[in-house]
Amino acid sequence: FPDIEVNDKGHLLIGGADAVELADEYGTPLYVIDEMRIRENYRRLHRAFSGEYSRFQVFYACKANTNLAVMRILEEEGSGIDAVSPGEIYTALMAGFDPDRILYTGNNVRDDELQFALDSGVRINVDSRSQLRRLSEIAPEGLRISFRVNPLVGAGHHEHCITGGEMSKFGVMEREAPEVYKMAMDLGFEPVGIHAHIGSGILDPEPFMLAVETLMDIAGRVHEATGVEFEFIDFGGGLGIPYTPEEEPLDIDEFASKITGLFKDKLSEYGLGRPMMCLEPGRYIVGDASYLLTRVNTIKESYRKFAGVDAGFNTLLRPAMYGSYHHILVAERPLDEPSEKMDVAGNVCESGDLFARDRQLPEINEGDVLAIMNAGAYSFSMSSQYNSRPRPAEVLVREGQVDVVRERETFSDLLRGQNVPARLLKR
Ligand code: LLP
Repeated sequence: FPDIEVNDKGHLLIGGADAVELADEYGTPLYVIDEMRIRENYRRLHRAFSGEYSRFQVFYACKANTNLAVMRILEEEGSGIDAVSPGEIYTALMAGFDPDRILYTGNNVRDDELQFALDSGVRINVDSRSQLRRLSEIAPEGLRISFRVNPLVGAGHHEHCITGGEMSKFGVMEREAPEVYKMAMDLGFEPVGIHAHIGSGILDPEPFMLAVETLMDIAGRVHEATGVEFEFIDFGGGLGIPYTPEEEPLDIDEFASKITGLFKDKLSEYGLGRPMMCLEPGRYIVGDASYLLTRVNTIKESYRKFAGVDAGFNTLLRPAMYGSYHHILVAERPLDEPSEKMDVAGNVCESGDLFARDRQLPEINEGDVLAIMNAGAYSFSMSSQYNSRPRPAEVLVREGQVDVVRERETFSDLLRGQNVPARLLKR
């Protein structure tokens, strides 16, 4: 769990900025992104893996956080992008990523989306035979592609976040992999990569080890059956971060050495040469780098005690969607000891709109600012305008310097693009 920093007023500091002052100045709810935390996370992971195997590349899974400034930071750090939609490809290109460093892994992709990916010049990671067939109708001869394979191993913090195994809609079946690579070659493609992503929010190295082993065995079988020379092998993302104070962070050096050790053994076992080893972390890079600031406007002593805030599951969906725990600090007094149990409730008109149930928290008063932690991944990117709430602003902080990197939406954004037919405008 990151150390909590306070200033001389005792207020929470984020990237050197006073969280209470940020809330006063920019309004709430407000996402605050700590630039150096992103850079540190990226560098720690990159150093750990490239120290063990120099041909290593990160493809940041930008679905976690598509803010342009965040993507610029990662471009500067040398990352590539894992994109899952034309919109993510577009955003990555606008953020300055070379198409060569964007890997497009779509699921249930339309023909025009394949065309868009082709025209953009990004690398295409194929998910199914259907996609391969449809791509072959529009692709130039010799297009270099890769396949997402389901290695029959799955793991994740919630059932919705497990993407390998027999229940999963993703990827090519493990046993049909050699045949599918053969089919690609017959259709005039040049397959150069193999990919798997088993799930998200994994703190235990074991399922990863199993996935690496399985994917390498599949790569070995494909190589033997078809002669494909792999230029890259991509193990996807999924590296978890602690959300509760009790959870232990991954020991990234130990993790890297285990994974690369197994990877290198398997490379020599199957004579696979020295392909690029890739990972697609999203959460690990940005998860702990943001805080959601929200102000308490109502303390209600009903059948239970509620602290009512001005954000809701439209702002941060994870607690409502997955029952996820997000640690909550009082920005004015983040070091105060918990003193009573309460629920922290959002402002959406649904009973499931809770940021915390039965949470031990310090004394909270109306007007206090709460800092919801670990709101960097799958937070703003999963936000919506539900209940006709304009989406919040985002600020980027670094050494006390604050930049608004996304304006708060206004009411007019709620109506943008809507047209009322003339016949309804009478009177
Ligand atoms: N690569 C692929 C192909 C993915 O589908 C994903 C995540 C990642 C990489 C990055 O996974 P990460 O390193 O961030 O775990 N909304 C959920 C998480 C969904 C993840 C979907 N795919 C949540 O809030 O926990």
